[in-house]
Amino acid sequence: MPTLDTLIAQLTLEEKASLCSGHDFWSTKAIERLAIPAMRLSDGPHGLRVPAGDDHLGLTHSKPATCFPTAAGLACSWNPALVEEMGRALGDEARAEGLHVVLGPGANIKRSPLCGRNFEYFSEDPLLSSRLAAAHIRGVQSRGVGASLKHFAANNQEHRRMSVNAVIDERSLREIYLASFESAVKEAQPWTVMCAYNRLNGELCAEHPYLLTDILRNEWGFEGFVVSDWGAVNERVAGLAAGLELEMPPGGEARDRQIVAAVREGALDEAILDRAVARLLAVTLRVRDNEDDSVGVDHEAHHQLARRVARESMVLLKNDNALLPLAANAEVALIGEFAKRPRYQGGGSSHVNATRVASLYEALDSRLGERLHYAQGFAIDRDDIDSALQQEAVAQAREAGVAVLCLGLPERIESEGYDREHLDLPPNQIALIEAVRSVQTNTLVVLASGAPIVMPWVEHADAILAGYLGGQACGEALADLLLGDVSPCGKLAETFPQRLADTPCYLNFPGEGDRVRYGEGIFVGYRYYDSAEVAPLFPFGHGLSYSRFDYTDLELSRDTFSGEDELTVRLSLTNSGGVEASEVVQLYVSDATRTIPVAEQTLRAFDKIALRPGATQHIAFTLRRRDFCFYDAAHGDWRLPSGTFEIRIGASSQDIRLVAPFEVAGDPVMLPPLDRNTLLGDLLVSDAAVAVLREQLADIADELPMIDPIMGREGDGGMMEAMSRYLPLRALVSFSSFTEAQLDQLLTALRAVR
Ligand code: BGC
Repeated sequence: MPTLDTLIAQLTLEEKASLCSGHDFWSTKAIERLAIPAMRLSDGPHGLRVPAGDDHLGLTHSKPATCFPTAAGLACSWNPALVEEMGRALGDEARAEGLHVVLGPGANIKRSPLCGRNFEYFSEDPLLSSRLAAAHIRGVQSRGVGASLKHFAANNQEHRRMSVNAVIDERSLREIYLASFESAVKEAQPWTVMCAYNRLNGELCAEHPYLLTDILRNEWGFEGFVVSDWGAVNERVAGLAAGLELEMPPGGEARDRQIVAAVREGALDEAILDRAVARLLAVTLRVRDNEDDSVGVDHEAHHQLARRVARESMVLLKNDNALLPLAANAEVALIGEFAKRPRYQGGGSSHVNATRVASLYEALDSRLGERLHYAQGFAIDRDDIDSALQQEAVAQAREAGVAVLCLGLPERIESEGYDREHLDLPPNQIALIEAVRSVQTNTLVVLASGAPIVMPWVEHADAILAGYLGGQACGEALADLLLGDVSPCGKLAETFPQRLADTPCYLNFPGEGDRVRYGEGIFVGYRYYDSAEVAPLFPFGHGLSYSRFDYTDLELSRDTFSGEDELTVRLSLTNSGGVEASEVVQLYVSDATRTIPVAEQTLRAFDKIALRPGATQHIAFTLRRRDFCFYDAAHGDWRLPSGTFEIRIGASSQDIRLVAPFEVAGDPVMLPPLDRNTLLGDLLVSDAAVAVLREQLADIADELPMIDPIMGREGDGGMMEAMSRYLPLRALVSFSSFTEAQLDQLLTALRAVR
């Protein structure tokens, strides 16, 4: 087999350019004379979408494939091992189809619950999101099939998604939006990354050298190729130079010719093209080596896996008077069209033609027989109340021992391509809850949605089970939970707000025209609710169980942490309830140094533990430098502050069970960038800088009593002192006999300090 270099040397300029775009919507080009094969790509992320018949987009008709729960639910499993197992199943299905790359997972942060595509993303928290994305990638790629981590980056809304400019400060970008991709890239090395449609700080992500080359390649060490989101390419040559290797779908021969012309005219260095081709071919050859058409798929086994995944993904939000699990002899009124027509996936490019679908009605029917009574209650496709349907539902509810209301967001409200305008359920469903509640005190709501809704009716429901978009086995999984075969163990990967106006980016979403300013900064999701003390409806990390867990014996391996250390956090978890169940133990770090504005607490580790009743498990987490750092935008690096921190162990972000403080001996303090406008007060962080100031300002000290404290004299402790802190160096010249020449000298001396 020729090496990549010899292969590239045999390609003509035209052939090299042609490899940088696809052959058609779903495959890359082959070059037969050199035995370079084509690659076939398909959506993702939670099932394959291989076009069938003449629907070349596969939007309306695709080959049957297992439809797993979408990422929004999957994330509530907080179980990377399970996500990896699902990834392996996807990889097997892809391989059996002769596919080489499955597009996904999506690691964009859920900035607003309104985003129409949140069902395809994991979380509002970058740690949870990137760990699950990494697991998904590892699973798929373990089968010799590439994953495509998408949409890089800051694709947090559907509104004007192909043109909007996300304006994000560097710190928030690094700590939140990029962090969600960072460890997935570093740990799992996806074979491809898909760039986003939108602009980021003025430049299209498809031609963003900072994003695609400086950060993705140079900082994170990404080794695969970057593919455009479908149709994201603007200027092909600029994209290529910025680090976008593959254009999909192909923009036609004209685009390839632009690349050739740019090389011939000297506008594009041929070495850049060669590098792009090398990256593309490296994956192409790897894919070819992994081909194996003898792989078969056990669709029944995958359906059962989808059922297990769904069970772990559903979240018991509320369970007053232990309404769930249902009593063994309960007469059940199952109400709502979703019970027979489940909403189990989202709309758009990820839409899977499921191999089969199990509704809750079918699943309960086979278990409850005559104790199950169904009423449609409302029409999914309409908002208005159908009084005949409603009355029938009320009649069933009155007769039964418990009413199970299957409610949710119809696909017309939530999909790729557009955002929601509000967080409410349709009015006919809200009216139904109230009507049923008036005749039945045991009322349970089962929700199907890809994102949070508000629940002004929350008091009318004794129990609420969020099923998310649970994939093709959602009905069976729901029945397993409702009947108590297994305990719920999902925890929210996002906050459910009380009101839309409570959401962190309420005033900055979806922006004005083509500009959306991320004005909430790092305060996304629970980082905002906790810090601003805004009570959520259900907090991040929340989820109930049929069992109970005790958290004890918190121990830190050290009292003082410095940058090179590891901090080991140990605790014990006991299942003190009556049934086998799993618990997600969450570790939050609180930075009490408040060196800069920080979130009240930040998730830094988690683990999901399955325990039999009475059993105890000892758990250990290891934390490192980055877990305590903030991104210092002024110096372009991660910085460890000094002072007191706290480890908080919780069953949710707002159910903290154990707390332990410790000290951090952080990085040496750094002087701010130095120029005439540097503030005097900002220099006080350094003793050496203070010494320089004292020496150089000695002659004017008597003229400016406001600098007394800086000069080591007693200050007034009030207004004068404050004024000196906020005094730019240049003002020394305005307010005293200090000269411009002395100012230059001072700056030179200060620069020598750093
Ligand atoms: C979506 C991608 C998807 C691609 C191919 C785009 O519109 O944003 O997520 O993978 O189409 O279907």
